[in-house]
Amino acid sequence: MTRKSFYITTPIYYPSAKLHIGHAYCTTIADAVARFKRLTDHDVFFLTGSDEHGQKIQQKAQEGGVTPIAYVDKIVAGFQGLWQKLRISNDDFLRTTEKRHERVVQEIFRRIYEKGDIYKGKYKGLYCTPCESYWTERQLADGKCPDCGRAVAEVEEDAYFFKMSRYADRVLAYIEEHPDFIQPVSRRNEMINFIKQGLEDLCISRTSFDWGIPVPMAPDHVIYVWFDALTNYLTPIGFLDDPEKFEKYWPADIHLVGKEIVRFHSIIWPCILMALDLPLPKMVYGHGWLIVDGDKMSKSKGNVVDPVQLIDEFGADAIRYFLLREINLGQDGNFSRDALIGRINADLANDLGNLLHRTLNMIGKFQGGVVEKALGESEIDRAFLAEAENTIVAYEREMEEMKLQSAIKTAWAFISRANKYIDETMPWALAKDAAKKQTLTNTLYNLAESLRRISVLIEPFMPETAEKIWRQLGIEAEFAAVRFADVRTWGGFAAGTQVKTPEQLFPRIDVEAEEKPAEDRKKSPMEKPQTSQRKQKEQAAKKAEASDGIVTFDEFSRVDLRAAEILTAERVPDTEKLMRLTVSLGAEEREIVSGIAEFYAADELVGKKVVLVANLKPAKIRGIRSHGMILCTSSEDGLRLVEPAAPAGSKVK
Ligand code: MSP
Repeated sequence: MTRKSFYITTPIYYPSAKLHIGHAYCTTIADAVARFKRLTDHDVFFLTGSDEHGQKIQQKAQEGGVTPIAYVDKIVAGFQGLWQKLRISNDDFLRTTEKRHERVVQEIFRRIYEKGDIYKGKYKGLYCTPCESYWTERQLADGKCPDCGRAVAEVEEDAYFFKMSRYADRVLAYIEEHPDFIQPVSRRNEMINFIKQGLEDLCISRTSFDWGIPVPMAPDHVIYVWFDALTNYLTPIGFLDDPEKFEKYWPADIHLVGKEIVRFHSIIWPCILMALDLPLPKMVYGHGWLIVDGDKMSKSKGNVVDPVQLIDEFGADAIRYFLLREINLGQDGNFSRDALIGRINADLANDLGNLLHRTLNMIGKFQGGVVEKALGESEIDRAFLAEAENTIVAYEREMEEMKLQSAIKTAWAFISRANKYIDETMPWALAKDAAKKQTLTNTLYNLAESLRRISVLIEPFMPETAEKIWRQLGIEAEFAAVRFADVRTWGGFAAGTQVKTPEQLFPRIDVEAEEKPAEDRKKSPMEKPQTSQRKQKEQAAKKAEASDGIVTFDEFSRVDLRAAEILTAERVPDTEKLMRLTVSLGAEEREIVSGIAEFYAADELVGKKVVLVANLKPAKIRGIRSHGMILCTSSEDGLRLVEPAAPAGSKVK
């Protein structure tokens, strides 16, 4: 059977400067979609590249005293390095300065000219150089470029025009008849309004600079950079030289673009394609913008976040996870270092990391590292397996609908569910009872199988971590060959597999060290915004103090919170919930009675670090003097210890 093809593109980025985290966001979305399509056995072509011509680049090169090509070569090498670091799986990288592209652009120009849809005239109008956009007086916002708010310049020159006005009605009809063509729907409405105001013919050549592809019939003109750029989508799929390939991938399934360039892709590009008698792309998806600590990124504000530095600090998968988990695709989303660290600690180190670690540890400890065959199932197993099935169905639907954030949430809900399954089944207790051997085997099998599934579900978002989990599970099959179909039915984990010793996936980030003054930390691109965010938090805390029913800072500081280490643990006889613990506070030992016996086995507790309310008034519980209280989180997963990374005795503030 021939596989269904799937063609997805990102915008081609201007090499006028290094890429920032907003660009990385766009490409990461496309990568996750491409990876999911490969998992579901599509023949995927994923394209990205660089948009290297135009006046702005020429100016930048002049300012730097180098030729335009030398200027872009250096920056584009940076793009390619970034995509490699970020594990972007593009099938081609198109540079508009390549010969293969120049041929395509000139041929398209020639074809449309010969058809009579390109004519020579005089251009007099307004141009925004940073956006490489033409505007009419009417379109300006307060006399400035409506996209970027910067000044526009008057230009007057001989130029070639594309008869876009001729296609306006057809494009409008197409948008109206194809509700999925422009996504999300808010962008679609914007575009309909834009066309209804009337489309003018588009000026597609310039003579005031020469950094561009020459007009074939008038080499003193260079082709307008957007005309050149949009056609990039046709070049690498064989438009001129490989009809079979072209047939396979065109029309594109998704042009993924930022919201401000939806207009180029859903109006100008369709007009060009109509003039060429080519089918239109199936979807133009306009994603929202990434802002940083609530502010638009800009050099002058000094808040431009460099993705390379972030990857070096936290790893590619953590950044990918954050971008895709935190931001709803159609809307603008916020990036902050605090939020990133919060997600790494809670979702990656804690939820995912612990599930893998606990599972492999128990398989090691109770079954010599071998996953044995499951036979039969309990009520608890049945409920858990039903959840696993629902997860697959919901996840697949959400990915098909481009709801990446929902799909990640679905995967993580299952990770939490698997952690809860451990608490429900208490394998450490089963291991003590020879009669429960098969129940223990079943539980550990189900956990290994869950992790096998999880590794596939997270592959589009975190490819490196997915493969690490796969390898730690000891699965022999090559991870690169795995398909979504392999996790559609339960039970694919081969019994008899020897798992590996667990290795930490994500170290927890020490938030206390992060909070130290900036000069103590490694210099980071996020320093300024973070400081201002801290200030905001302090102000918010002060405000909160003043309001009714809230503890003041002084009241709170009277609570002595300490990191402590559990030295011994034993159940309090004839109780279900109580555990008797001795804990070390570094210089001192305490006895504590804690209500956590339903959620932890005694031997699981020994050695754990906990947070202790050290100055709580001692109380007698079941005849035992309990001096202090241990902090836990309480959620649908039951009680979970708050586990600090600091040595016993450290103050928690
Ligand atoms: N070269 C054109 C695209 C031509 S496609 C035929 C261009 N380049 S760009 O480098 O300015 O922008 C590329 C993409 O990056 C756009 O889709 C834009 O929306 C996106 N982003 C730029 N800043 C962004 C954020 N802060 N957040 C998210 N995406 C952002 O336009």
